[in-house]
Amino acid sequence: MQIKTAKFVISNTDPLKCPQSSKPEYAFVGRSNVGKSSLINMLTNQKKLAKTSGRPGKTQLINHFIINEYWYLVDLPGYGYAQVSRTQRRKWQDFVRSYIQHRENLTCVMVLVDVRLEPQQPDTDFIEWLGVNGVPFAIIFTKADKISKNQLAKNVAHYKKELLKTWEELPTTFITSSETKEGSKEVLSYIDQINEQ
Ligand code: GTP
Ligand code: MG
Repeated sequence: MQIKTAKFVISNTDPLKCPQSSKPEYAFVGRSNVGKSSLINMLTNQKKLAKTSGRPGKTQLINHFIINEYWYLVDLPGYGYAQVSRTQRRKWQDFVRSYIQHRENLTCVMVLVDVRLEPQQPDTDFIEWLGVNGVPFAIIFTKADKISKNQLAKNVAHYKKELLKTWEELPTTFITSSETKEGSKEVLSYIDQINEQ
């Protein structure tokens, strides 16, 4: 898919107030600082469409972007960066889960995980919740440029092995880097493929 147009539509604090729509929608979710906003900029080929920051917690709202006037891409706030309080984590969970559960046109949740790290409990809990609720999802490994090819392969294999402890089948996975643009084409053709079904 070629992205011809990518425009910011609206930010929402209340998941129930997102504009109703029948357009296919893809939400990008993951821990704070994992690279959600950077990945969105990479996919859309724009430097500042989604606001990025070295400081975790930059994205606080549900941000809708319209791509090629046809599908929605959604940037969500990140969950728990390292040690956040239980209250904060609960707040995020309620917010994002409410959005996911009420969004009828949500086509697929893209779960971003930092490829350098061991599977993190908040991620695995969230992935499990998606499964229990029958929400289609894919996993996007981010920041691939930060480790060697060798380590990358090892980490991805390890992550998949861990997933297979609770899942019978592996979800679709992508390896990406917003620095080198690795994985951009693959993620976009995956979305394209689903949109055409
Ligand atoms: P929140 O909005 O706080 O939840 O964070 P986010 O997940 O949107 O992360 P963001 O895109 O703002 O990126 C966080 C930091 O990681 C920034 O300093 C980015 O430049 C950096 N970063 C993101 N993706 C990559 C990547 O693929 N490679 C490298 N080297 N750095 C990255
Ligand atoms: Mg962000």
